[in-house]
Parts: sequence; C-alpha cells; structure tokens
Amino acid sequence: MAYRRIRRIVASDIKLATTVTVIEAKNTRVLACAVMKPNDVRFALPTLLLGASLVGASLTALSCSDSSDDTGSNNNDLNNADASTSDSGDNNTNPVSIDPTRLLSFAPLPKVMWPAEGDSNNRLLFQKKVDLGKQLYFDTRLSKNNDISCNSCHLLDQYGVDGQPVSDGTNADKTATPPHGNRNAPTVYNAALHLWQFWDGRAEDVEAQALGPILNPVEMGMKDEQEVLAVINSIDGYVTEFAAAFPPEDLNATGKDPNENTTPVSYINIGKAIGAFERTLVTPSRWDAYLNGDKNALTAAELAGLAKFMEVGCDTCHNGVAMGGRGFDLLGETNAWPWPGHPNADGYEEIGRADVTNDDADKYVFKVPSLRNVEKTGPYFHDGSVTTLEEAVNKMAYYQLGKTLSSDDVASIVTFLKALTGDLDDATITKPTPLPGKDDGGGTTL
Ligand code: HEC
Ligand code: HEC
Repeated sequence: MAYRRIRRIVASDIKLATTVTVIEAKNTRVLACAVMKPNDVRFALPTLLLGASLVGASLTALSCSDSSDDTGSNNNDLNNADASTSDSGDNNTNPVSIDPTRLLSFAPLPKVMWPAEGDSNNRLLFQKKVDLGKQLYFDTRLSKNNDISCNSCHLLDQYGVDGQPVSDGTNADKTATPPHGNRNAPTVYNAALHLWQFWDGRAEDVEAQALGPILNPVEMGMKDEQEVLAVINSIDGYVTEFAAAFPPEDLNATGKDPNENTTPVSYINIGKAIGAFERTLVTPSRWDAYLNGDKNALTAAELAGLAKFMEVGCDTCHNGVAMGGRGFDLLGETNAWPWPGHPNADGYEEIGRADVTNDDADKYVFKVPSLRNVEKTGPYFHDGSVTTLEEAVNKMAYYQLGKTLSSDDVASIVTFLKALTGDLDDATITKPTPLPGKDDGGGTTL
C-alpha cells in the first residue's frame, strides 16, 4: 500500500510542490523536494533517500526554497526557527516541542498562486484577468436557466463551499436525472495550489477546471461552447474586458494552443480569466505566521495538536502548502472503507481516480484534500457523508492509518486543524455589479 503512495507522489508530474515531502513507509522514508518557480520549473527535484538515518543529515543539503517568487514576507526559514515554544513566552505556559525537521513538509501560503506559464511577469495584465474572472465567477448568465454561478456552489463568503453533502445544480427541483452530482463541492480557496483539480484529479489546473462546470448538465448546464460565447458576446462590457485582458500579443504568448486562442472572447480564455481570479483566493492564517517564524502564533494547545497530527502520521498525506492536494490515496488505505455498496441506491458507482486512469489499481483512490479552512468546509469526504470534523479525524486515523484515537487525541488534532482557518478578504468576497446586458437583473448585484 505504501508503494502506491510513493509511486504516485514521486512518479507523478510534480509541478507545484513548494517544500519537502517526507513520506514514511515502515522503515523507509522518501524525501521529495520540489522547488516551485512557476514560470519555468514544472518538475524540479524529487530526491529519494532510503533509510531514515539519512533524512536528517540530508535536509540541509537540499535547498527547498520558498514558493513565492517575490512576496518577500514568506521567508520560510524553518531551519533557523526554533519551533519549540519553551523559550518564548508568556502566553504559552505548556511548552510543546515540535521537531523543525518535520515542519519542512509544510509551507506558508504565497500571496498569489501564480500560473505555471505567463502573467506573473505582467501584473497589470494579470489584474485585468483577475477582475474579469471575478465577474464571470459570479455571473449566473453562464448557466442554462440564469440561476447558477460558480458562487452558488463555492460561496466565497462561506469559505468557498455550499455546506451541502452534494450540490444542487441548475436542474435542482427539476425532473432531470440525476438531479444533482454525486460529489461534495470542495473549496475554491487555495485550490490553485493543488497539483490536480477535482476529487479524481481529472483537470490539470484551475484554468482547465473552470471550463467543466459551465457545460456540466448537473451544474450550470449550458449546451455547448458556442452558446456560452454567444452570451459573452451579447454583453458589451465583456467584449471590452476580454479585449483588454487578452491583447493580441498575449494570446500568442500565453495560449496553450494558439490555434484555439486567437480571439479575446474564446472558451479557453473564460477558463484563464476565472483561473486567474482563483489564483488570488488565498487565506493566510496563524499557521502561516507560525511557519514564517512567529513562534507565538499558535497556542500551546494548537501546538500539542500539531505534534499529535504528526505523531499519528496525518502529515504523510496532508502536507505541503495546502496540507493536501499533492497526491492520491486509497480511501481505506489500512482498513477497508465501509462503502454503502456499488452501485449505490441511485445506480451510481463511485470509483474515484479509476474514472480518469481506467486502471483498476486506482479504484476508490481520491485526491488527498487540502486541510486549510477545513473547520469551515464540511460536510466532509468526496461524498459529503461525514458532518463533523471530529468524526472525519477519527475515521481518517482508523481507515488510513489503522489507529484508534482517544477522544482527547481527536479533540487535540481538531484544535490544531482549526488554526488552519484563514482570513477571507472583504474586497474579494464582495459581489460585483453585473455588466449590463440581457438578464442582468437590472444592474443589481448578482
Ligand atoms: C452545481 C454546483 C457547482 C457549480 C455551479 C460549480 N461547481 Fe465547482 N465543484 C462542484 C463539485 C461537486 C466539485 C467536485 C466534483 C468532482 O470532484 O468530481 C467541484 C470542484 C471544483 C474545483 C476543484 C477543487 C478541488 O479541490 O479539486 C474547483 C476549483 C471548482 N469546482 C471551481 C468552480 C468554478 C470556477 C465554477 C464556475 C465556473 C464552479 N466550480 C461551478 C460543484 C460546483
Ligand atoms: C494515507 C493517506 C492519508 C492519511 C495518512 C490521512 N489522510 Fe486524511 N484524507 C486522505 C484522503 C485520500 C482523503 C479524501 C477521502 C475521500 O474523500 O474519499 C482525506 C480526507 C480527509 C479529511 C476530509 C477533508 C474534506 O475536505 O472533506 C480530513 C478532515 C482529513 N482527511 C484529516 C486527516 C487527519 C486528521 C489525518 C490523521 C489522523 C489524516 N487525514 C490522515 C488521505 C489521508
């Protein structure tokens, strides 16, 4: 089983990882260090070190730099940070010793999650895409019945989720079959950090992902790309904004496929604009302050929870900047997950990643989700079947790691997980006034 995890993370296209991944498998440790320089490095430096004793000694030799190219504030200097609270202070009376080496498998958030290609060198142009992407993100006119936008299922003022086990799409309350999708809507916050999008990883990045829901019959339900482009072209404000965000030189410079991307209003550019907006959806938290060297940013209780999180082994899968999003794993890695039956009562068979790879070995394998803001993003798991964070932690320990935790240990880990809750940006979550045009609701907010 451990083999699968190692194979997946090391052999896969590691293009975004920002720090060191330490994967423990019995007596073997795998250390993968990938440096993110978004514009040029897609796969950096996976280093395999066999033998636990080598790991500590080799950390200093590996230079795993900060993910953000110029934000300045993220010094991520954990080698120098004494992660113990024992010497520091007044608010932490109960010193908790945290192994700084272990902390290297995490990293603080950058200010913007820059795309792999283009744009980070042209901030003004990127900002135009962000503004346009925000308009599109909130625009219900991109749905069949003018009733659904991205924000209907990923509410930005509710940490990017809708709080439902599975979401209602544009067919809600209609007779269509199925009336809704089968998977829980993950948060859009910090999602650009994931190496793949969706629970089964079927989209490569947020730009590609954004194009799915618009045409998905159980989401926004538009007929085809032409129908979407006709809506955009019928709204003068969009035509102007697309032209500004995608000037001629930019089309050739950043288009993945220049043949598809020669006019400003194109389907691929809708994805690029929404994706640009999503790349600004970061939620810095006290956890980031801590990783940036502020030893007092977490309370003693939170540090005790962090120590427990690592002791139990949660960080073997939930690591990196997003505390997840960097690998896939079998749900029920150690103890078989109690599946309700395949297919389920709706006639649906959830096979996870195997849907994408057609490989039986990937059946019931899912992307390891991010744990940032997890306090706010329930219900949990790919099917939204678990309501409380306590139950989610309990189940993870048992099914993924074969450990039965005491309720104190669960509570302690939950205390730590709550410290991952970040700040929402008021300007970002404010709904824009729709660009005037057909069905704009008279210029009221969308
Ligand atoms: C009807 C509800 C609904 C709408 C509308 C919707 N989504 Fe989603 N979104 C989901 C669900 C459900 C998933 C998970 C589906 C899966 O994994 O198969 C998802 C997945 C995602 C993910 C992947 C996150 C991750 O961690 O893997 C992103 C990003 C995202 N949506 C962004 C958007 C954007 C942008 C729009 C608008 C263009 C949008 N969504 C519209 C329900 C919705
Ligand atoms: C072997 C890899 C692995 C380990 C170890 C692991 N997890 Fe997970 N975790 C996953 C995967 C995969 C999922 C998604 C499963 C699904 O939804 O089907 C997940 C989901 C979760 C979720 C739900 C998140 C959401 O948004 O729905 C929480 C919370 C969580 N894990 C916490 C933990 C904690 C706490 C530990 C340690 C006790 C832990 N995990 C250990 C792989 C792992």
